[in-house]
Amino acid sequence: MPEKGLEEVVAAQTSLSDIDGKLGRLSYVGYDIHDLATNSTFEEVVYLLHHLRMPSQAELDELEEQLVEEREVSPFLAELMPTLAAQTSPMSMLRTSVSAASAYDPDGWDQSPEANYRKAIRLIAMMPSLIAGYQRRRTGQEPVPPNPKLPHAANFLYMLLGEEPEQETARGLDVTLVLYADHTMNASTFTARVIASTLSDMHSAITGAIAALKGPLHGGANEEAFRMLEEIGTADNAEASIKDRLARKQKIMGFGHRVYKTEDPRATHLRRLARELGERTGDTKWYEISERVEKVVMEEKGLYPNVDFYAASVYHSMGIPTDLMTPVFALARMSGWTAHVREQYADNRLIRPESEYIGPVDQHYVPIESRQPVEEAG
Ligand code: COA
Repeated sequence: MPEKGLEEVVAAQTSLSDIDGKLGRLSYVGYDIHDLATNSTFEEVVYLLHHLRMPSQAELDELEEQLVEEREVSPFLAELMPTLAAQTSPMSMLRTSVSAASAYDPDGWDQSPEANYRKAIRLIAMMPSLIAGYQRRRTGQEPVPPNPKLPHAANFLYMLLGEEPEQETARGLDVTLVLYADHTMNASTFTARVIASTLSDMHSAITGAIAALKGPLHGGANEEAFRMLEEIGTADNAEASIKDRLARKQKIMGFGHRVYKTEDPRATHLRRLARELGERTGDTKWYEISERVEKVVMEEKGLYPNVDFYAASVYHSMGIPTDLMTPVFALARMSGWTAHVREQYADNRLIRPESEYIGPVDQHYVPIESRQPVEEAG
């Protein structure tokens, strides 16, 4: 019987990403995450994950053009957005929009590898427009059309905030997108692969992935981490507040990881970005609280921060509202999800594990009128 939560169970073979939890290493297609975070861009990582090699300049240019061309959402989605902005949470909006986008995808129900690649590019390209459009609508502002001159990360901030971001801010976001792009068999990627393994379509698999990412034990942790920092309020409150939370058996969001037993290598970059962006905007408060929280959680529980902890302060200093932090994670992870779905299709077998039965046995049917009343506990 495997560990509860399928710990250490290998559920698929992949050429996309790899983690060494003991050494704290992450790589995409054999490239170390530190190398990619320092030198690469989100668009280049999209190419890497979908083609399993680095692009030439011409290939990268072509992909960037395709992503720019597919930024506009269909009129159907644009019409749906005011209702979604008024009625649903940001992650529910994404889940519904991706599901709805299948109705107007030009490749329809074509399941060929070429069609699925095009669907993947469209899904990656539309994420900034969906999230920014939602934010503009719910704050009573007109959506900002995409700017074809700006790369993926910078264009997102432009559409969200209505002005071109400074270069350092845009690059900071780009680095976080590189860091969030893929992460082996996490819960949302596993969900996407299970759905794809039934030979259901790309949009269905991604809709499921978004639903899985929504939960606070997975993608929702960055938002929860920021809400915690707000509640703590000052660096001097950090120690007492964390000890109190732990005494009440609360989990500290943004800490701990199923696979990493040392520092999550993505956290190293996000810590640095949180400090740098805080210093540049003149608001180092969140970084200072975070540092103290990190110290206390290490002393009390021996736990390291994961990707979500410092991402929270990074996104806050860019002007990204707290409840859009998980959607921004989804914006980045769309690259990995879609690549995993294509990888699953390319060598598919239905994912259908077993369960261990632990219920009663040898029961006999008793007609309803003869059953004894049962007192339910509680
Ligand atoms: N705060 C406090 N204690 C934590 C903790 C946290 N963030 N993460 C793990 N622990 C403790 C658990 O309480 C448990 O202690 P116990 O053995 O005394 O009961 C032990 O560490 C093992 O935790 P467990 O929940 O079984 O580990 P897991 O592998 O199932 O969970 C996570 C991994 C990520 C779900 C878990 O660390 C967590 O809930 N973290 C907070 C949410 C988060 O940041 N998610 C984003 C992940 S990238």
